Amino acid sequence: MTEKVAENKNEGRFLGWIDKRYPLTAFWRQHLSEYYAPRNFNFWYFFGSFSLLVFVSQIISGIWLVMEYTPTGDQSFQSVQHIMREVRYGWLLRFMHTTGASAFFAVVYLHMYRGLIYGSYKKPRELVWLVGMVIYLMLLFEAFTGYVLPWGQMSYWGAAVITSFASAIPYLGDLILVWLRGDFNVSGVTLHRFFSLHVIAIPLLLAVMIFVHLVALHKVGSNNPDGIEIKDKKDKEGVPLDGIPFHPYYTVKDLVGVVVFLMVFCYIMFFMPTAGGLFLEPDNFIPANPLQTPPEISPVWYMTPFYAMLRAVPNKLFGVMTMAAAIALMFVLPWLDRSRVRSIRYKGALSKIAIVVFIICFCGLGYLGHEGVSPLRTIMARILTISYFGFFLLMPFYTAIEKTKRLPERVTG
Ligand code: HEM
Repeated sequence: MTEKVAENKNEGRFLGWIDKRYPLTAFWRQHLSEYYAPRNFNFWYFFGSFSLLVFVSQIISGIWLVMEYTPTGDQSFQSVQHIMREVRYGWLLRFMHTTGASAFFAVVYLHMYRGLIYGSYKKPRELVWLVGMVIYLMLLFEAFTGYVLPWGQMSYWGAAVITSFASAIPYLGDLILVWLRGDFNVSGVTLHRFFSLHVIAIPLLLAVMIFVHLVALHKVGSNNPDGIEIKDKKDKEGVPLDGIPFHPYYTVKDLVGVVVFLMVFCYIMFFMPTAGGLFLEPDNFIPANPLQTPPEISPVWYMTPFYAMLRAVPNKLFGVMTMAAAIALMFVLPWLDRSRVRSIRYKGALSKIAIVVFIICFCGLGYLGHEGVSPLRTIMARILTISYFGFFLLMPFYTAIEKTKRLPERVTG
């Protein structure tokens, strides 16, 4: 329906008054009630809306935490204790935020995995994927800067280890390190600038990038588990034969998913907020002490795959470069996959084996990055790192040579 018709229907009403000044009804129609999404979305299609939900929840809990938090080297740890013990429902706000951080990565990883198995990164959705990757990178920075704020032992030493990566850069490394930390060591100055990035700069950019992500998606339309274009087959009115309006069909479906998701989320938040040291590490309940290194420094679970790669490489510079390359390869995924089909349902055996190998590598490295170092674990981390790179670097070959299945005319299921 055109903008004019939509406006006329609301003539004389409050909405009509708004529509004359702002394209509210037109927006609703274009992006919800007349946005046709494939009718065969499955379980994996929940995680985009869950990511959106967790983002909003993080912003809300974050705003309230900032009201009582003090970002200085000498008061930060105490102010978090004050939130936990003295502020009414402060513990709830904090656990909402810490559980939310892990939930964010859990849903975003599953969201990315969906893209991987259904080839949602392939033409014409390369930009949706690329913007998604920028979001992922920003999320990593957001999580890292946030973890420094409670100023516990892991905050301090985590910041020390991660910022020290800069010193691996030849010639300019030490200069960049001081510039990043704002001091010759990690100090209250570092904490203060990380606070600024965590509460203002990165969330603002994230909000903009999520908007761009969705605009890019609505320009090309959603992919689906069959990986075929629903826009290729339309009725006389130009509506895709296999499309259904996003609202009410998927808004209601997502709402059911949200209820189940919130039940799991609340269970973890109320009954196991530290998740046995996985979401909140025990050492971070000890105030930062620059004179004492904790026995084991490891990042939170969502960063451990890359940390394992770093430790698997004996040279610091090459280790940092390996980590950077591991993420860079995800960016260029749309150009590595040369298969004629998108979805794993119609790809050949080689792609299926490769995806299983990839999952084993990512989870295996995640486990190893969380555990202490031993000679056997180092060997395993090296094998998994090489296989991880193999998955991406061999993709142009195995996707090009394997036999694919015939695509159906219309979406299935
Ligand atoms: C804050 C983080 C993110 C939010 C809020 C978000 C939100 C969404 C939403 C609402 C959708 C449409 C619903 C759906 O298909 O599930 C979507 C689609 C998509 N997202 Fe994200 N996303 C985020 C991060 C990412 C990341 C990190 C990637 C990958 C690097 C990514 C790649 C994609 C792709 C490829 C699609 C299209 C999927 C398809 O049509 O099959 N997104 N996103």
